[in-house]
Amino acid sequence: MGGEKYGARLPQLISSLLLLFVYLCLTTPVAAKSDRDHSDSSPSLSKWNFRPIDSHLLDTGSPQPTKLVDGRSFKSDSQAATIVDCNHELAISAPSIPNNSLGIASVATPLFLTAKLFFAKATFSFSITSPGRHWLRLYFYPIPHPEYNLTEAIFTVQTNKFILLHDFQVPDSNALVFKEYLINIPQEEASNTFSVTINPKQNGFAFLNAIELVSAPDTLISDNATVAFPVGGQFSGLSNYALEVVHRLNVGGPLIAPINDTLSRTWLPDNGFWT
Ligand SMILES: *[C@@H]1O[C@H](CO)[C@@H](O)[C@H](O)[C@H]1NC(C)=O
Ligand SMILES: *[C@@H]1O[C@H](CO)[C@@H](O)[C@H](O)[C@H]1NC(C)=O
Ligand SMILES: *[C@@H]1O[C@H](CO)[C@@H](O)[C@H](O)[C@H]1NC(C)=O
Ligand SMILES: *[C@@H]1O[C@H](CO)[C@@H](O)[C@H](O)[C@H]1NC(C)=O
Repeated sequence: MGGEKYGARLPQLISSLLLLFVYLCLTTPVAAKSDRDHSDSSPSLSKWNFRPIDSHLLDTGSPQPTKLVDGRSFKSDSQAATIVDCNHELAISAPSIPNNSLGIASVATPLFLTAKLFFAKATFSFSITSPGRHWLRLYFYPIPHPEYNLTEAIFTVQTNKFILLHDFQVPDSNALVFKEYLINIPQEEASNTFSVTINPKQNGFAFLNAIELVSAPDTLISDNATVAFPVGGQFSGLSNYALEVVHRLNVGGPLIAPINDTLSRTWLPDNGFWT
């Protein structure tokens, strides 16, 4: 991984850049506060004093809109019909999800209860009002189905420039998988729509439980970063890459080791980060 800018020279496959960076999560380990759906515009309600201009929240496979405990409302399939394009798909649902007291499941449970199977390439076309950094969040849970074994689905998820998941498969039938990327959408891309495509591996199918594309504050992460490997190394031009969230801080809480987190995430305690 060099400091090479994107463009013609960038290799097409940038599998989720394993650039370790600290995402300063100022809350408990749940969704970022920055993308709440503020029906009330009072700025004091927002920790970041930030209201996402672009906010596309889709609960794929859901017959009705889904409201989370944090107040955000996810669109149903019919509300999202103009965003999603796939010529062969199937909506399925589950009565419940596996117990998972830690992590994303505590807020996002309803999102995992429905999914859409894609038997052909699916394209999500998001209109972008405000260029700049955006969170792209993907939710996967292999809902049991009598005909299709979602645990065996293998597929690729990509944007115009980045391959975020290549030949992805959930680890097991109880897995709740949450993927979060920080992507810069420059002006020239924003003038059209921003696309995310999901491609099943040959003759197979793909699935998705929910997807979010929301504006992130541009100042959230500086364009320069200190990289973990090699220690102390500097990396600039971060906005040209898709960053996968790898480190989080569990502010005021203890270390949560991957073994205690079904999503295999590590939540770092915040002591040592505040000086
Ligand atoms: C899941 O949690 C509920 C309530 O805490 C409990 O009653 C149930 O036995 C748990 N199920 C499994 C499979 O652990
Ligand atoms: C689905 O596939 C997974 C992985 O191959 C396997 O472990 C599991 O037993 C299968 N489930 C069913 C219901 O066949
Ligand atoms: C990022 O690094 C470049 C090159 O080292 C430097 O010129 C620039 O000022 C830095 N930007 C910030 C915001 O630190
Ligand atoms: C996992 O959780 C158990 C029960 O809370 C705790 O005893 C154990 O120390 C934790 N392990 C790690 C590696 O955090």
